[in-house]
Amino acid sequence: MTWQEDAGRDLVRSFGERMAMFVRGEGSHLWDADGKRYLDFLAGIAVDSLGHAHPVFVAALANQAATLAHVSNYFATPPQLELAARLKRLAGTGESGRVYFGNSGAEANEAAFKLARLHGGAERPRILALKDAFHGRTMGTLALTGKPWMQEPFLPMTPGVEFIASTAEALEAAIDERVAALFVEPVKGEAGVIDLPPGYLAAAREITARHGALLIVDEIQTGAGRTGEWFAFQHAGITPDAITVAKGIGGGFPIGALITFGAASDLFYPGTHGSTFGGNALGTAVAGAVLGEIERADLVRNAAERGEQLRAAILEIDSALVGDVRGRGLLLGVGLTHPVAKAVVAAAQQHGLVINAPNDETIRLVPALTIGDVEIDEFIELFAASLRTVEDALLLETPTEVHA
Ligand SMILES: Cc1ncc(COP(=O)(O)O)c(C=O)c1O
Repeated sequence: MTWQEDAGRDLVRSFGERMAMFVRGEGSHLWDADGKRYLDFLAGIAVDSLGHAHPVFVAALANQAATLAHVSNYFATPPQLELAARLKRLAGTGESGRVYFGNSGAEANEAAFKLARLHGGAERPRILALKDAFHGRTMGTLALTGKPWMQEPFLPMTPGVEFIASTAEALEAAIDERVAALFVEPVKGEAGVIDLPPGYLAAAREITARHGALLIVDEIQTGAGRTGEWFAFQHAGITPDAITVAKGIGGGFPIGALITFGAASDLFYPGTHGSTFGGNALGTAVAGAVLGEIERADLVRNAAERGEQLRAAILEIDSALVGDVRGRGLLLGVGLTHPVAKAVVAAAQQHGLVINAPNDETIRLVPALTIGDVEIDEFIELFAASLRTVEDALLLETPTEVHA
């Protein structure tokens, strides 16, 4: 029996065929079962902020496991309180902010959905979300996800959610006093690393505030320093009513959180939400250590600087396939000139590079925030070789021929 046969027989079919089986990781590198080494520019989909097997991650997990792992939310633990205080500080909530812990991005957004309902009550049944945005796969978060093909097999959805274009004009036209909240993904990662129009978040803040609706920013992919600020909303200099985080804050340990600002912090009251595992000592200790290391090593600045370096280097690759580079910091999308992203991912795998394709025209790059010159040079070499492999297969013209 091969591992492919085991996976095909035993694992749920909602994921496609597994591309490789990894047995070990270190920094930005992975090794498969045959000992082949890969450069990892996916980092578990923007999760492994410190790369693999970082000593800070390992020590936090081991020490906390040896001290206290889980006691339930009937009780507090020091790592939980420390992480809540750290998240409030990094998000800039001030004293009045509060944190709800869950175990994933979807759970953080489920909590945000309930927050919106608590705010809206019977008077505000409408919730606005952006077309193409992705907020998760649970029934509540799927209702917020503006992708009809994802919803279709699971209809009917939780009612009340309406999808609008990502423009201030569309928001102004759709909003009224019956809207409880607007959900926004500051860079639409799953849709193909699509930036919001300049000024959108500031406009959305003003418009939602004017109509008494909450502005809820989904920072699950963009948070924890990935875009070159702790949270992407901070580029816009606004104060949202709530943000959701997950992925990178745990650096590989499953954890998510809803962080509320100001009056939104008073909406939940005893009995309105909960989770057995959410905020346990093990997860919060690891996330606290991961965020502490991001701060200590100035990895938010590294994300901003390496992101620009990577963007410039990609645009210099001599390939007819490279169109544009979108996104911010170390959340980048390479727009391809032909719908061959899946072929590029497969070629990259052959060359020993892990990347992914959120759609047929986009390659998503979300490496560890720890990357430096060495990883960027290796990436450019492997990515250029992968593009060449696909170009050769497609017999595309090279730019030299195009311009000759
Ligand atoms: C913006 C955004 N929101 C929510 C989610 C869902 O998170 P999870 O897969 O941890 O449930 C994701 C995951 O890709 C995401 O990118």
